This record gives sequence, C-alpha cells and structure tokens, in this order.
Amino acid sequence: MTRFAADSTTLRWGVLGATSYISTHVMPGIARTPGCELSAVASRPERAAAAAEVGRSFGATVHPDYGTLLADDALDAVYIPLPNSDHVDWTLRALAAGKHVLVEKPMAMTENDCVRIEKAAEAASRTVMEAFMYRFHPQQRRTAELLASGEIGELRVVRASFAFGIESGSGNIRLEPSLGGGATWDVGCYAVDVPLLFFGHVPQTVSARFSRRPGIDVETSAVATMDFGQGRSAVVDYSIDYGPRSYYELQGTRGSITVRNAWAMEGEDGVITVLTHDGIREETIPSANHYQLQVAAFAEAVRDNVLAPMSLADSRNTARVGASLVASAAADGANIATTGDATVVP
Ligand SMILES: NC(=O)c1ccc[n+]([C@@H]2O[C@H](COP(=O)([O-])OP(=O)(O)OC[C@H]3O[C@@H](n4cnc5c(N)ncnc54)[C@H](OP(=O)(O)O)[C@@H]3O)[C@@H](O)[C@H]2O)c1
Repeated sequence: MTRFAADSTTLRWGVLGATSYISTHVMPGIARTPGCELSAVASRPERAAAAAEVGRSFGATVHPDYGTLLADDALDAVYIPLPNSDHVDWTLRALAAGKHVLVEKPMAMTENDCVRIEKAAEAASRTVMEAFMYRFHPQQRRTAELLASGEIGELRVVRASFAFGIESGSGNIRLEPSLGGGATWDVGCYAVDVPLLFFGHVPQTVSARFSRRPGIDVETSAVATMDFGQGRSAVVDYSIDYGPRSYYELQGTRGSITVRNAWAMEGEDGVITVLTHDGIREETIPSANHYQLQVAAFAEAVRDNVLAPMSLADSRNTARVGASLVASAAADGANIATTGDATVVP
C-alpha cells in the first residue's frame, strides 16, 4: 500500500478545527516545513467562518465539516488539535480514511484506547504520532547527551513541574470534564512524560494527590511520586491554577542537570544548568521552532515508513501512568482536597 494518498512527494495536510492557538503556532509550522503543504482545514459547521478565515490565511481548501475533510483523497495526513475527549474517535476515523495522523496530546486517556489506535494504524499501514512538541526542542537532545556523558553519574531522581493559570469562567476546554479537561491531561501528561523518557520505562507504583479549585469539576493541581525500582524515583507536580512553571531536573549520583524552560515557546532559548562537585555551569540552547521540527520528524517517519520519534509505545506508557495518577488520587478520598482561590492570575 502506498504511504501517500496523492500522487506527490509532498505530504498534504488537513487540520480538524480552526482553533486560535493552533492556527498561529502549529499550522505555520506545517506550512513552513519543506515537503509539507497545509492543504485543507475544517471546523464544525457552526464555526464555518473561523475555518474560512484560517483557510484564507494559509491558502487552504475549507471543508464544511471534519468528516468531509477526511474524505478528501488529495490529503495524506491530518493534524488533530480537538478537545482531549475527541482525540481517540477522530484518530480512528482518520486512519479508517487512510490518513496518517499527528494527534495532539494526550493521544488517549487510557492505555486500552492507545492499543486500539495502535492496531488501527497497523491495519491501515499508516503512521500515528502524539504531538509532544517539547521532545523536538534542541535542548532535549543536549540534555540527553549530558546525561549519557556520565557527568552527573547514574540517574536516581527525576523532578518535573509544569504550571500555568487558567481563569475560571473562561469557557476553556481544560476546565470541562466532558471534554477531557483537568490538569493531568493538559500540563500533567508533559510532566509525566519526562521521567518515562529518561528512565525508559513505566514506574512500578505511583501515588498522587489532587486539588480542585472551588466551582471547578476537574483537578486543577497535582503532586505525584513514582517508584521506578532500584532506588530510582520521580516527583512531578503540575497545575492549571498557578503562575508559570516549566522545569525539570535529572538528579544523578554525582550531580544534577536542570532544564529551566523545559516547555519553551517558539523563540525562547533553552537554559540548562549542570551542577557537580566540580562547580556549576549554564548552557544556553538557541531557540528553534519545535512545532516545525515535530512536523518534519513526523513527515520523515511517514516517507521512510519508520517508527515515529514519539512512538506509540511511549504514548501507551504516558496514558497508562496518567490514568494511574487519576486512579491513585481517586482511591483515597482523603487525597482529594479543595484548595485555592476561585480566581487565577494568568
Ligand atoms: N502542543 C501544544 O503546544 C498545545 C497547545 C495548546 C493546545 N494543545 C492541545 O490541542 C488541543 C486543543 O486545545 P486548544 O487550546 O487549541 O483548544 P481550543 O482553543 O478550545 O480549540 C479546540 C478546537 O476543537 C474544536 N472543537 C470540537 N468540538 C469542540 C467542543 N465541543 N468544544 C470546543 N471545541 C471543540 C473547535 O474547533 P472548530 O470550532 O473550529 O471546529 C475548537 O477550536 C488539546 O488537546 C490541547 O491539549 C496543544
């Protein structure tokens, strides 16, 4: 089976949803990537005007709804930045329509749904990748190099922390339970991914404590610990209540590596601090458009029919641990606290 739907060496993309953040950050990354073309966009019918505007700005075809876009034979790949609750369903529909799929994080909120996607991708001979853009920032490669160099010794503890505040009453999908809202599946899945990435496997046990802002029906902050066995552990915290925090740290037997702007925006440099008995030093990693690098890596995986750099096994593990945190917090009623003000300063 051909890897491209259209008779072309260009990967032609369609996008489901004309969301404002995505159209100003991720879509330009698709449009600018050599060998890729942002060819089509669709909104829900009631938001046709938004799709028309985004389509005009990229010179892309505008389809009347998501299903019609998937039926467009000229498209090879779709990017899915819908609410979390819709990721699994639209990924499966896109695969059934013969498209390669780049789906926003979280790909799914259960391990079982990840397995369904994996099987569907295999059956359709199509590539699926979860959009964990931070993995494509050059500072991640540098951090992995530093760890592999042995300078900080053997990895023992990973700490990761990701926070930004969302206003109550903003209508944000992150505050809506029916749309897969909650801090865990928004910022939390990034923080959870870090220890899995560096330890290379899932933890043996997890323990989570969630907090919820008054009047909000999803968890808005969390602190969790994970036991990776052999004296190795992780501590993660994440929040959609607090001011910005974007950091992770690798603690080794001889020192530590701190990534101080782990989920950097485009245009922001990475800053890495290495602390050992020999002293402290800082490295600045020049900014790069990780959205564009992510699209380029995905396109390469499609073209060469090789494993995507964010593999489906990685996605399965992240979903499994995220779901375990939710289960851990729910298992003990005493763990679920209600704290904080109703208003969050963004
Ligand atoms: N990687 C990143 O840096 C990054 C950044 C932001 C968000 N994300 C991810 O992208 C996804 C979307 O987040 P967002 O912040 O872009 O959300 P958003 O601004 O609310 O946009 C979500 C889009 O989904 C569509 N949609 C379909 N059903 C909907 C419903 N019932 N309610 C609301 N929207 C609905 C809408 O598109 P139409 O109205 O046009 O059909 C809407 O524009 C999430 O999974 C999030 O985790 C990733």
